[in-house]
Amino acid sequence: MTSVIVTGGAGFIGSHTVDELLKLPEVRVIVLDNFRSGSRSNVPECPRVSLVNLDLRKLEDPALSFFDEVSGVIHLAAIVSVEEAYMNPRLTIETNVLGTLNALELARKLDAKFVYASSVAVYGEPQKIPIDESHPTIPVNIYGLSKLMGEQLAMRYSEDYGLGVVSLRYFNVYGPRMRGGPYSGVINKFIEALLRGEPVRIFGDGDQTRDFIYVEDVARANVKALFSHAKGIFNIGTGVETSVKELLAVISRTLGKEAREVIWEPPRKGDVRRSRACYEAAQTHLGWRPEVSLEEGLRRTLNWYLNASSY
Ligand code: UD1
Repeated sequence: MTSVIVTGGAGFIGSHTVDELLKLPEVRVIVLDNFRSGSRSNVPECPRVSLVNLDLRKLEDPALSFFDEVSGVIHLAAIVSVEEAYMNPRLTIETNVLGTLNALELARKLDAKFVYASSVAVYGEPQKIPIDESHPTIPVNIYGLSKLMGEQLAMRYSEDYGLGVVSLRYFNVYGPRMRGGPYSGVINKFIEALLRGEPVRIFGDGDQTRDFIYVEDVARANVKALFSHAKGIFNIGTGVETSVKELLAVISRTLGKEAREVIWEPPRKGDVRRSRACYEAAQTHLGWRPEVSLEEGLRRTLNWYLNASSY
């Protein structure tokens, strides 16, 4: 038996990562979460899972005896919204940078492999498409900057202390258990608006693109990264570019429901124009590739919404 710590394990990507880890019979999971945006109900009740209510910003001197035989830390606890980061820069830097520092210290003391949840937002406005890992990192918002700072800290720990570090740059992740509310992503906002019969908002002309990756594909990447011998930085995306307008059309088609009205808003501050991943490095070094198409992923996501709520 080995134990794996998942920070943010009660959150969206975290809870799917816990599910993926539990498919391995010899693994115990320790979830560290402050339940700010995560929820207990996301984590399965299972004797192999322990839940610890803990804020990583305050984890200066972890009670290490509590974490025996830990072979890996998957660090997902973060502020994950570009808009929320813009509204709360201090909270974002404290959570995404100081929180990462404390998680790295924990991994160093435990001599555990470290998987860091980075983001396509570290690249900023793409200079070429598809984006590969050698693309310059010039973030255009506080969120991207905070993720880059965390990533660079993790790489420093790898260089200076020999910690095994894999940094995964996720593209736009969606799927069941996505967080709702004002800081949620475009897929959540479109689905909720359509289901409630409310207007949909499009920022800019709607031709901006994103590479939408299904959450279970991301969870598989996390687990593969943890148990591989690979180190370094890998993009986790599908290689498919979809515009916001096309996305609305696919969601409408899948749901069989048109938007009541589209409200066109000015472009959002800090938004990039295009995004598409080159994931060749992950395929070569982690043996990972995306498996779920946008249509299939949206079908599964919509089913979850319809089962989980009273629309
Ligand atoms: C998202 C993620 C972030 C990740 C990043 C990678 C969320 C909350 N944030 O940010 O963690 O690192 O992807 O790119 O998932 N839009 C509309 N109408 C809406 C909402 C959004 O037109 O109601 C547009 C936005 O202006 C943007 C695009 O949709 O152009 C995507 O927005 P969003 O889903 O918020 O994602 P990112 O900002 O890319």
